[in-house]
Amino acid sequence: MLEIIQNPAVVIGWLLCLTVLLLAGLGGLLLLRRHRLLSLQFEAENRLLEEQVRSIQEKRKLEIETSEAWNGFANFVVVKKVCHGDSGICSFYLKPKDKRLVLTPFLPGQHLIFQLPIGSQPIKRRYSLSDCSNGEYYRVSVKHALAPKNRPDAPAGVGSSYFHEMLEEESQSPYKCLIQVACPAGSFVLDPAETRPLVLIGGGVGVTPMLSMFNSILEKSESREVWFFYGIRNAEESVLFDEGMLHPSFEKEAGQRENIHVFVYYSAVKTKEELSAIQVPPGVGRCGGRITLDAIKSHLDSNNYLFYICGPDAMMNDLEEGLVAWGVPEEDVLTERFAPPSTKAVKHTDGAPRKITFAKSGKEVEFTADDSTILEVAERAGVPIAYDCRAGSCGTCKVGLVSGKVEEAFRTNYKCSPGSCLSCACLPDTDIVLDC
Ligand code: FES
Repeated sequence: MLEIIQNPAVVIGWLLCLTVLLLAGLGGLLLLRRHRLLSLQFEAENRLLEEQVRSIQEKRKLEIETSEAWNGFANFVVVKKVCHGDSGICSFYLKPKDKRLVLTPFLPGQHLIFQLPIGSQPIKRRYSLSDCSNGEYYRVSVKHALAPKNRPDAPAGVGSSYFHEMLEEESQSPYKCLIQVACPAGSFVLDPAETRPLVLIGGGVGVTPMLSMFNSILEKSESREVWFFYGIRNAEESVLFDEGMLHPSFEKEAGQRENIHVFVYYSAVKTKEELSAIQVPPGVGRCGGRITLDAIKSHLDSNNYLFYICGPDAMMNDLEEGLVAWGVPEEDVLTERFAPPSTKAVKHTDGAPRKITFAKSGKEVEFTADDSTILEVAERAGVPIAYDCRAGSCGTCKVGLVSGKVEEAFRTNYKCSPGSCLSCACLPDTDIVLDC
């Protein structure tokens, strides 16, 4: 043995053998590790692919089902009316009066249009659906628009007053429970084929479309990352955690799902003591103040999200502007407005008048620097164009653009097909001819 150790050639030989064995072992380990990583990556890609295929199938299924929607307005019954404490908001659960009528499925974020028998001419109002599509009922949650405190003589909102004061549950009145409803509509929706991380921001009653979106995600147990921010003045205004508003799985799994984050911002709450006295479900964050861009940024680790916003005008304008300035692409910031934005609409750049020809009505009108939208000018000229939101959300005011170019007076999410434009949200960039 001593002889062997004393022989340097033998020692070097042994060392070389050992090194080769070690390297071979290490190589094997690396190969195993690489194989493991590859299979993990493969599994993740497979899961993503499966999720995308499922989303596309759901979208297709919905397209087929919604093609069986009813036409015009159908009679619905208020089967349940729930008023939420001091929030001024009531939720109405609706089922078709005709039991044969199948509830059309809808995309989270869509709204219903109601025809209300007020005065000599029925009026139309639209309210967001506040639950996900479930095949059993539709739910809308309506805030009673009372006169503002600084103008107590101003009339209350006609549509919301009708809902709050005239509509009763079926069990209370067989007549006052009836209401006319058109099929779900609207383009402010969660795309079922989309899997990117999501931020939902709802201020006040603007939380209703977010509830529909959030519940649809909870229902499908999606693994998608979701941040839900709810802005109210104080705990009395909250409706989010009232019984039945959130999908039952939220209560069961509250705080346990790592992909779901919920924060409530209370703008009138000023102290830590006030804040800690507010009860929220486990896993829900409480914050004082308003939902601002800085508040949102303090939670997110990047701007790589899809943002959905609905709430007071000022909040929407600030967030929309701030998010785009933060580098979020405009098309990733989606907003739902129920009235035109209060910010000044764009005017055409040179201020020179443009000629609008209404081909079917045979009228020609000048669009001047004082005009804001094509719809306003059409009304002045007595050209009838149907409208609903006047905020670029519903698409009701879409008209055919025979020739010329238009530009948006304010940003909308509604995608018009080529050769048409939203008359409530556009102004002429050149002389134009419209098909109305
Ligand atoms: S009226 Fe709704 S988009 Fe113009």
